[in-house]
Amino acid sequence: VPSVSTVDSVLSKACLKRLAIADAGTSQALLKSVEDLDDAHPKQAKGRRAGRSHGDILPVTHTYLQSVAQRQQMFAEYAAKTLTWRKAFSKVDESDLSEGVVSWFKDGRLNASENCIDRHLPTHAHRTALVWETDNPDHAQKITFQQLSDNVNRLANVLKAHGVKRGDRVTIYLPMMPAIVYSMLACARIGAVHSVVFAGFSDTAVRSRIEDAESKVVITADNSIRAGKIIPLKKTLDAAIKDLPQVESVLTFSRVARDVPMQSGRDVFVEDEMAAASPVCNAESMGAEDPLFLLYTSGSTGKPKGLVHTTGGYLTYTAMTLQTVFDIHKYDSDPFGCFADCGWITGHSYVVYGPLTLGVGTLLFESTPTFPTPSRYWDVVHRHEISKFYTSPTALRTLIKAGNKHVHRHKLKRLSILGSVGEPINADAWQWYKDVVGGGKAHIADTWWQTETGGIMIAPRLQTLGKAGAAMHPLPGVVPVLLDAQGAEIQGVDVSGALALKAATPGMARTVFKDHQRYVDTYFRPHKGYYITGDGARRDKDGHIWITGRVDDVINVSGHRLGTAEVENALQTHPAVAEAAVVGFPHAIKGEGIYCFVNLKDTHKSTDAEALQNELRQIVRKEIGGFASPDVIHFALTGLPKTRSGKVMRRILRKIAAGNTEDLGDTSTLSEPQVVGDLIAKRNELL
Ligand code: WTA
Repeated sequence: VPSVSTVDSVLSKACLKRLAIADAGTSQALLKSVEDLDDAHPKQAKGRRAGRSHGDILPVTHTYLQSVAQRQQMFAEYAAKTLTWRKAFSKVDESDLSEGVVSWFKDGRLNASENCIDRHLPTHAHRTALVWETDNPDHAQKITFQQLSDNVNRLANVLKAHGVKRGDRVTIYLPMMPAIVYSMLACARIGAVHSVVFAGFSDTAVRSRIEDAESKVVITADNSIRAGKIIPLKKTLDAAIKDLPQVESVLTFSRVARDVPMQSGRDVFVEDEMAAASPVCNAESMGAEDPLFLLYTSGSTGKPKGLVHTTGGYLTYTAMTLQTVFDIHKYDSDPFGCFADCGWITGHSYVVYGPLTLGVGTLLFESTPTFPTPSRYWDVVHRHEISKFYTSPTALRTLIKAGNKHVHRHKLKRLSILGSVGEPINADAWQWYKDVVGGGKAHIADTWWQTETGGIMIAPRLQTLGKAGAAMHPLPGVVPVLLDAQGAEIQGVDVSGALALKAATPGMARTVFKDHQRYVDTYFRPHKGYYITGDGARRDKDGHIWITGRVDDVINVSGHRLGTAEVENALQTHPAVAEAAVVGFPHAIKGEGIYCFVNLKDTHKSTDAEALQNELRQIVRKEIGGFASPDVIHFALTGLPKTRSGKVMRRILRKIAAGNTEDLGDTSTLSEPQVVGDLIAKRNELL
């Protein structure tokens, strides 16, 4: 692997041009923004937060331009030095975005659980690996790397005993308890592919994910508990897998009480089997490009897709971005405080794989930001000595609403870096985070990324001050561009466009499970040579990036990603519904709320509206989960705005839902323009 530290090329404006980061000739401001970034690298930072040295392995010792020019060497060097490989790789980046191919370190071999556990044992066996902040704040538990190892090895042996082999998919339907980490790493240990399904998903949603993954083994718990409320997880799973012979074993962890029905021959209490199993299970040697996990996520169509992440590149990228964005060092003693759920990508990358790869303890937060009081987060920060903190704008907005009296400054002295993820952070929330939580001093990292990218792509550099609401800078080796409708790159500053990526990074998803064509069509087909993110963005006059939100039919509700088509499909299962169109609308707490325009069949037009609204909400909860429950159900009794060819004009519905009706754009192509007036009048009654 070529050494990056020996490379000391002075990158010129011509290089900028060649990389097409921007046309430097026409954009002095953008060039300056890149130079500022480079000036700010730790060795040169004077009087600013210089940060400790990460040795010569961390990409922040490179200028951004170097990181792009030598991106393959940079990632290769980081991967070689940071991970423990069974067999070193000789191939580095064999990606080809124009063909939808992403491949890194192909001939290397390693095991993810070995990287997250075994290699830390000789020196850090008794260090805390997991800090479990249970729903009840008095019952927190700490699990050392040694205990993590014992549990993961035993569970891996249990999985094997239930017939799980390399490459098999295991569905994990668990709340935030140590078992979820044991399960993920036990799968990784034996080369099985985990598919974690968020515990807030309904039985119907879990069933379709189990079916798609073809899992024979499912891991769950008797119940989950959140904000003091017991949620019957096993019961939901039982409904999900009713008459589904494909599921041969249900391994059930005990969380609340063992008082759940167990189907003999299928369901077992897994702790009993773990106690009897050996605490030693040899880790499989996996290819760097072997799948580590599937994670289902929403797109523009109704069917969630199982994105496939692989082993070597993913671990490299999650560890590297954790270091770069959060200034985490190997074996740092403070646990990393990511409050996300492992049911989503943030939990995979920054609760589990990133921190544990670096031998850093990690927080598992089982509760909610407001239970038992809105000081919960700050109590957790204080009690567990957290200095790097990561949450969502929705949580922040909820806490802002609860009032500043709940923020105990003295408890937050340690906090130095405050991250935000999952949805755009509004300027007010950003400022509150900075001033009230961070005491004006902490660094705010608004991090943009996606399930598909595996790790953070755009975030402010540690040495920069940041702007309220801007994700700011591409991370080392990341090359974002803005495209116009024809797919041409938009150069210069003070411009907006579709956000795309022009180079493959190691942590990107490799395919959609069992549907590679869908992967290619969704992300690479629209504009050849680019990965299309589905987000829009603006590059401001200083060259900094602002994410403006999705440009497709995906919405972000409390940071949970949801396809509007999924909600429409659910609504359409109700016999009264003729057609439904669902859009997002601005919501003060959730970021986006769910606004459903529903046209009823003539036979149902006089049904009691409130009763029907309740039934429809219930249907969505049952088909998807409680988090997808509609905020507004608007019966569009005179119809939906359509083009003459019968296509619903969502652009207009989005504006109506947002109450943004001054400028509806061109409505001349509508087949029945009068429905718009009816919809506006009704919307104003509803909101
Ligand atoms: C949105 C979550 C604005 C975006 C890691 C993206 C953001 C989608 C930000 C991915 C941010 C994520 N600012 N929007 N900092 N971070 N998003 O797959 O629309 O659950 O495409 O991954 O969330 O959601 P996902």
